[in-house]
Amino acid sequence: MADLDDTIGVARLLTVVQKPTFWLALIPAVVIVALVVPYLYDPLGLRVFPGPILAKLTSGWMAWTVNENRWSVTVEKLHHKYGIFVRLSPDHVSIAHPAALNAIYGHSAGATKAPFYDAFSNFRARNMFNTRSRTEHSRKRRNESHMFSPQSVRALEGTARVHHSNLVSQWDKLCSYVPHTQSGGAAVGNLGACEWRVDDGRVWFNCMPCDLAFGAPFGMLLSGRDTARVAKSLKASLAAFGASAKTGAEVTFETEEIPAAQVLNERAELTAVLGWVPSRWHSLVQRLPAFRTGKEASPKMAGLAVAAVAKRISNPDAREDMLNKLLESRDENGEPLSADELSAEAFLLIIAGADTVANTSCATTYYIARDPRIQAKLQAELDEALNAINSDVAPYDAVKHLPYLDAVINEGLRVFSTVGAGPPRVVPEGGMTVLGHHFKEGTCVSVPVYHLHHDERIWGDNADEFYPERWIEATGERKKAMLDAFAPFSLGPR
Ligand code: HEM
Repeated sequence: MADLDDTIGVARLLTVVQKPTFWLALIPAVVIVALVVPYLYDPLGLRVFPGPILAKLTSGWMAWTVNENRWSVTVEKLHHKYGIFVRLSPDHVSIAHPAALNAIYGHSAGATKAPFYDAFSNFRARNMFNTRSRTEHSRKRRNESHMFSPQSVRALEGTARVHHSNLVSQWDKLCSYVPHTQSGGAAVGNLGACEWRVDDGRVWFNCMPCDLAFGAPFGMLLSGRDTARVAKSLKASLAAFGASAKTGAEVTFETEEIPAAQVLNERAELTAVLGWVPSRWHSLVQRLPAFRTGKEASPKMAGLAVAAVAKRISNPDAREDMLNKLLESRDENGEPLSADELSAEAFLLIIAGADTVANTSCATTYYIARDPRIQAKLQAELDEALNAINSDVAPYDAVKHLPYLDAVINEGLRVFSTVGAGPPRVVPEGGMTVLGHHFKEGTCVSVPVYHLHHDERIWGDNADEFYPERWIEATGERKKAMLDAFAPFSLGPR
C-alpha cells in the first residue's frame, strides 16, 4: 500500500515539475532565497544600519539609482531620512560626517579602492585612478608625480592661454550676432554645432556644448563641433606602438572621427552603473539594449587616448601639455612606460582632467550668469586686478590672490559638487572604526560628498544657495567646520 502511495506521489510531482508555470514560479523563489539568505546570515554585521529594504538585499538597487542619474541626490535624501549611517547595498555603508573623511580616505586609513573601480579599466594595464593595489599605486605616484608638481602645472599656462583665447574669441563671435541682428541679420543660427538666438538685445546659447573644454586639444573649439580622431582598432594601434618601439619607425594606424564629448558621456554613464554590479554580471549587463551604446563607447574612448599619444610621439615639438610629461615618465628601472601603460595613463588624464573641469566651469558659469549681483561684484574685482594688463586672458599671477574669485570658485565646487558621490573604499584587514562603529574587513564604505557640501548644520539655512560671500564672512569655528567638510578633490593618497 505504501509503495502505491509513493508511486502516485512521484507521478504527481513529475506532472507539476513538467508544467512551465512551475519553473516560472521557481525563478522569484530562487531570487528571493539568494537575496534573503545572505541578508539574514549578515556576514559583515551590517543589519544594524538603516536603509531602503531593496538596498539591503541587492546592489542592483544602487545600479538602478545611478542609471537614473540620481546617485548623489538619492544618497542625500537617504541621509536626511535615516541619519549619519545608511546602507546602500548588502556590503556598503555610506557615512555622512566630516570626521569620516579622514578616517576612510586619509593617508593612515589603509582602505583600498573598492571593486567599483574595476569597471573603469579599458586597457590591460591599470592607471593611477583605477588601480586598486596600494603597492602599484605608490609606484605610479612615484613615477608620475612630477606631472602634477606646481612647476609642471605652471609650465602649462601658455597652452591653457591659447585655448582660453580661442574660447573667448568664439564667445565674442557669438556676441557679435547681437548688432548683426539689430541691423537686419538673422536672429537664430549655428556656429559650428552651437545653436544661438538673439533675443532682447542679448545672444543666448548653451555654454555646455559651446564651451567644449574637453575638445580644446582636439581642435573642437575652433571647429565649433564635437569631433575628434580616434584609433579605429585598439588592438591594431597598440600593436603599431609595439612595432614602432622596436624599429623606431613612425606610429601609423587607421583612424576614424567620432563625437568625442558625446561618446565620453555615454561611456561614463555605463561605467558608473557597472561599478555597482558584481563583475560576474558585467558582460550580461553590457549586452542589454539600454547599455549597448555605452559598451561601444568604451573602445572608442580608449582609441582617443591612443591616437592622442601617437600624435604627440610623432610631433614631439608641439606645445607643452601633460602628455609630454607622461612620455618623460620612467619606471624604477629607468625604462619608459609600456605602450599599454602609457595609453592607460593618457586615457586617465583626458577623462579625469577634462570632464571634471568642463562640468565645474560650466556649472560655475551658470551660477554667475543667473545672478547679476555676483556677476557685477566679480567683474569689479577682476577689472581692478587686470586694469593694467592688455590681454583677453587673465595671467595666473594677476588673479591668484583674489578673495572674491576664490570664493566664487569654491562655491561652484561646493554647490555643484562635480564628484558628489562618495568614492567607495574597502575596509582593510583588522577592520576599521569610524565614529564609534567597528566595520569588518571587506565592508565597503564611503562619505557622500554632495551631502556634506549641502548639510545645513555646516553651511547654514542657505546651504543650497550659491552665495560666495560665505567663504569671506565665516571665521573661527564656523570656517573650520566648513573647511573640514569641503572635499571636492577628495583627500589622502588618491
Ligand atoms: C574641478 C576639477 C577636478 C575635480 C573636482 C577632481 C576631483 C577628483 C576626485 C574627487 C578624485 C578622487 C576620485 C576617487 O577617489 O575615486 C580625483 C582623482 C584624480 N584626478 Fe581629479 N579632479 C579635477 C581635475 C583634475 C585634473 C585637471 C586632472 C589632471 C589633468 C585630474 C587628475 C586626477 C587623477 C590622476 C586622479 C586619480 C588619483 C589617484 O587615484 O591617485 N583631476 N579627482
